[in-house]
Amino acid sequence: MTALILERQSDRAAAGDNGTVDRPPLIRLEGLTKIYSEGGASRTVLDALDREFYAGEFVCLLGKSGSGKSTLLNLISGIDTPSRGSVIFRENGGVLNLTTLGEQERTLFRRRNIGIIFQFFNLIPTLTVLENVTLPLELNGAAGNPRARAQALLDRVGLGNRLATYPDKLSGGEQQRVAIARALSHDPLLILADEPTGNLDEDTGDTVLTLLLELTRDAGKTLFMATHAPEVARMADRVLHLDHGKLVSDQVWREGHEGMSG
Ligand SMILES: Nc1ncnc2c1ncn2[C@@H]1O[C@H](COP(=O)(O)OP(=O)(O)OP(=O)(O)O)[C@@H](O)[C@H]1O
Ligand SMILES: [Mg+2]
Repeated sequence: MTALILERQSDRAAAGDNGTVDRPPLIRLEGLTKIYSEGGASRTVLDALDREFYAGEFVCLLGKSGSGKSTLLNLISGIDTPSRGSVIFRENGGVLNLTTLGEQERTLFRRRNIGIIFQFFNLIPTLTVLENVTLPLELNGAAGNPRARAQALLDRVGLGNRLATYPDKLSGGEQQRVAIARALSHDPLLILADEPTGNLDEDTGDTVLTLLLELTRDAGKTLFMATHAPEVARMADRVLHLDHGKLVSDQVWREGHEGMSG
C-alpha cells in the first residue's frame, strides 16, 4: 500500500522565471475518455483528453452544463473510472496510475492525497464543525494533533468560534468555509472544487472564493475548479474550456497576470 502514498512536496512553483516548466507534471491525463451507454446508444462525455498539470497551479475548468466538468473531476479524484485512458500522478519520483487501482485503493489514495469541495458542501450532519474538519486527519491516522490543526484552519476561515456547532445551524457560506477547512486539513496534494460557489449568493461566493484561493496558494496546493463563472477564470493560472467532452482551449497565464492576488 506504500505505493499509494506519494511523497509530499511543500514548496510551490510550477514554472521558472521565464514561464517554462522545469519539472515533471503532477498530473498527466492520457487519452482520457468517458463513454456512457444510454438506451443502446453510446455517448462520449469526455473525448480522449491528453493534458499535463503542474504542482501549484490553479486550473479553472469552464464549460456549459453537460460539457463534462464534473466527469473530469471525478476521474481525477478516482471517484469514477474512465472507459479508456489514464490519470497518472507523479510526485518526487513516485508515479501512480490511478486507473490501475481497484476501488478500495482509489478510496485510500483519495483520502490521503485529495481534498474535495462540492457545490452542496457535503458536510456530515451528525458531526460538529470541528469534527468534520478533523475527520480526514483521523481517517489518515495523521500524526500530531488533529484537533489543533483543524482549529487553526477553522480560525483561518473565520469559524474558530463555531467549533461545536452542527452544519445545519450554519449559513451556506459558513458551511462552505468549513468544507474548505476540511479539504485542506490532511494537507492533500490536490484540491478539487466542483462549482464551490454555485449555491451561494454573489457576495458570499466572492468571499468563499477569495478564501479558497488564499488558503490554497499559501499552502502551495494545486487547485482544480469547475465553474460556470467566467470571472473566476481571471484569477486562475490556467483556464481550460470544455465543450461536449473536448478541450477546446487551454490558456496558461504566468503568475502575476492581471487579476491575481499574489
Ligand atoms: N451516470 C451517467 N449516465 C449517463 N450519462 C451521464 C451520467 N453522468 C453524467 N452523464 C452525462 O455526461 C455529461 C457530462 O456531465 P457532467 O456532470 O460532467 O457535466 P458538467 O459539465 O459538470 O455539467 P454541470 O455544469 O451542469 O454540472 C452530461 O451530458 C450528463 O448527462
Ligand atoms: Mg457539474
